[in-house]
Amino acid sequence: MALERTISIIKPDAVAKNVIGQIYARFEQAGLKIVAAKMKQLSRQEAEGFYAVHRERPFFNALVEFMVSGPVMIQVLEGENAVAKNRELMGATNPKDAAPGTIRADFADSIDANAVHGSDSLENAAIEIAYFFPQTDVYAR
Ligand code: TYD
Repeated sequence: MALERTISIIKPDAVAKNVIGQIYARFEQAGLKIVAAKMKQLSRQEAEGFYAVHRERPFFNALVEFMVSGPVMIQVLEGENAVAKNRELMGATNPKDAAPGTIRADFADSIDANAVHGSDSLENAAIEIAYFFPQTDVYAR
């Protein structure tokens, strides 16, 4: 297993619910280190660019609208198998399908307000990290 980095975004619904710390605790308990972090109000342009792969999907406009509805907390997680480990902690996209004890099962209300984003591959992780963080803002630990 290799040391990987991945992007996690705590979405506006979970930030509004005041559960950033509870979500961070899950990363730490799973052995993932936070090596970069910032709270940010995304502009429409930033949200559209981030989710550009979904541009043709019927939920794209609602997704962008939701992602700019309040600040998000963006972090780079580092650890063994970080991409898959973060996806496991998150649970399925639709909280109704998310395994008990996952972030989405515990904190998400619906498929569109689903608490967290996590990169789905190592390739996308690299792209998403570079989208939000200059290299100098990511700290080796
Ligand atoms: P997707 O990449 O399929 O899921 P995940 O976040 O688990 O990688 O979709 C991106 C986001 O788009 C998803 O987190 C919430 C939103 N979305 C909807 O609002 N409706 C939908 O039917 C789907 C599939 C996604």
